Amino acid sequence: MPNRPDVMDKLVSLCKRRGFIFQSSEIYGGTGSVWDYGPLGVELKRNLQERWWKEMVRSRDNVEGLDSAILMHPRVWEASGHVSGFVDPMVDCRNCKKRFRADDPKIKGTPGTPDGQCPACGMKGTLGEPRQFNLMFKTFMGPVEDSAAIIYLRPETAQGTYVNFLNVQQSTRQRIPFGIAQIGKAFRNEITPGNFIFRTREFEQMEMQFFVEPGTDMEWFEYWKAERMRWHRGLGLAEDRLQFHQHSETELAHYARAAFDVQFDFGGTLGFQEIEGIHNRGDFDLTQHQKFSGKKLEYFDQGTNKRFVPFVVETAVGPNRTLLALLVNGYREEAVEGEEEGRVVLGLSPALAPIKTGVFPLVKKDGMPEMARKIADSLRPHFPVFYDDSGAIGRRYRRQDEVGTPFCITVDGESAAGNSVTVRDRDTLKQDRVSVDSLREYVAQRISE
Ligand code: GAP
Repeated sequence: MPNRPDVMDKLVSLCKRRGFIFQSSEIYGGTGSVWDYGPLGVELKRNLQERWWKEMVRSRDNVEGLDSAILMHPRVWEASGHVSGFVDPMVDCRNCKKRFRADDPKIKGTPGTPDGQCPACGMKGTLGEPRQFNLMFKTFMGPVEDSAAIIYLRPETAQGTYVNFLNVQQSTRQRIPFGIAQIGKAFRNEITPGNFIFRTREFEQMEMQFFVEPGTDMEWFEYWKAERMRWHRGLGLAEDRLQFHQHSETELAHYARAAFDVQFDFGGTLGFQEIEGIHNRGDFDLTQHQKFSGKKLEYFDQGTNKRFVPFVVETAVGPNRTLLALLVNGYREEAVEGEEEGRVVLGLSPALAPIKTGVFPLVKKDGMPEMARKIADSLRPHFPVFYDDSGAIGRRYRRQDEVGTPFCITVDGESAAGNSVTVRDRDTLKQDRVSVDSLREYVAQRISE
């Protein structure tokens, strides 16, 4: 397996400089592991989310969409096992007040004994006994801050789907097998967040719960594994940077009977890491909600007159983490023939790129800026376009290469007479001369390839 370079620091800098991703509340010194998406970042994230929605909901007649609330009844999280089971063992240092995972390899000795040494301040004997630390964010609903008003920010979107299983099934008259998909925020008070947007405390999930008849679950599990890997490949992630990882007995989440991760190779020391989890959750969640709510969550099969609690196959992918995979996958530095300065390219697939085309006048005279502006205005209702007339043309190309813009249209000395422009391809650097009248169709076709 090739040991790929670590491009994370370069990406953090590029993302800030070009408006993809900023640290949250930066002017106050930043909020730990929370990030804001700038003008280009939000376009890229939306393109990814819309692609997922189209693939998982719009193009299937057996998957419905849902948008459930972040705040849910607190009993939901008791039923789901998150109150008791969504925990990491942690140790606190009495001296420097820092907190660490109990299994942090940097801890020397045994926490809770005189030889336990704090990895931050280096003091011996100041680490307490490991304590269970819940990863859910807790807050209060309403005006009273007491235990009766405790509410959680959801750590996964899935539970909003389970509690709506019958609402969706009955209102759409779907028959099993069918799925419910949603995209939404999730929150986890991660103890070891980091690696830019890889593990953050506020993030998004694109999750689909597929309800099946017990006994058919492993067949559907295999089906969704293949479908999801196909989707990741379709994003343009390199074939040899993607792999499955099967969860061993000890890795399985409390709800899972079987689980595979889709992993992407982020390079450097991070290497292969999960970007999506595919889980066979059996009837764990629906059975728990039946127990805790006292309401039946059974499906009645009119064909066979059978009543049963369905099994669930879940696909759970993070758009933030996948976006990071796309940036890492696409980042490259290249020498340019005949030029001293090389170029940085974000090789994003045209369908995902935040800007589809740059539009430039070759020089700022002879009517070229006017013609270029007119072209940009005519294309703007159809795709994100960036007009640029400042600096040398080479620099303008470089600026678009660096943010992944697949095409650049240039109005030159021949444009007015021939009503044509050049269209430069980001990757091949080839320039086609295209009639202004067919530009929209030309770009539309190239971004759908
Ligand atoms: N409902 C199942 C579930 O939540 P998960 O494997 O914990 O499964 C699914 O999460 C996906 O959500 C992950 O593969 C990852 O892409 C994303 N994700 C989870 N925790 C994250 C975090 N702290 N920061 C960014 N993305 C995260």
